[in-house]
Amino acid sequence: MGHPLITLHDKSFRPYLSAAEIAGAIDQVAARLSADYAGRRPLFVVVLTGGFMFAADLMKRFTGDCEIVFIRVASYEGMGSTGQVQEIMGLREDVQGRDIILVEDIVDTGTTLHHLLPTLEANKPASIEIAAMFYKPTSLRYPLTLNYMAMEIPNDFVVGYGLDYDGLGRNLPDVYVAA
Ligand code: IMP
Repeated sequence: MGHPLITLHDKSFRPYLSAAEIAGAIDQVAARLSADYAGRRPLFVVVLTGGFMFAADLMKRFTGDCEIVFIRVASYEGMGSTGQVQEIMGLREDVQGRDIILVEDIVDTGTTLHHLLPTLEANKPASIEIAAMFYKPTSLRYPLTLNYMAMEIPNDFVVGYGLDYDGLGRNLPDVYVAA
């Protein structure tokens, strides 16, 4: 017998990635970031809400000095991207001259990042790289440089590990896919 399905609102989801598999992927991306940013004191800029869990695990594994701020944008409702990004809130920290690591839960169409990057660049950081827990390559609609993706996944809707379906599922340590 396989693992049981879970239900969130009206939808069923089946187990997809274990917490251990996720942790292993984060170990690797954190090791690369720690090496690449040694001595540079990067600023982790975390995109809320979904990025909170990945950001915490990633930052715990980063070995050098670093700082963190949280921003919020909104572009997603239910199970399909609206293609709209609202205003960025929370970017109070002076990012001029900083090495920014933009932390996302998942890069899906890339719409959020496509709109976010010019706003961040306008603040004249020294550099910007994107770190995301999940990346759906077949879904991407914009040319983005994605050097620190922890895991590639197919173009399916997933929940858990910070990701939600209409508000539910963020607390799940494992990741589930729509059944
Ligand atoms: P993008 O702008 O299309 O790249 O997606 C931006 C946001 O959509 C992500 O930061 C997530 O919050 C949300 N999202 C994309 N795919 C999924 C998914 O499979 N499950 C839950 N949320 C998702």
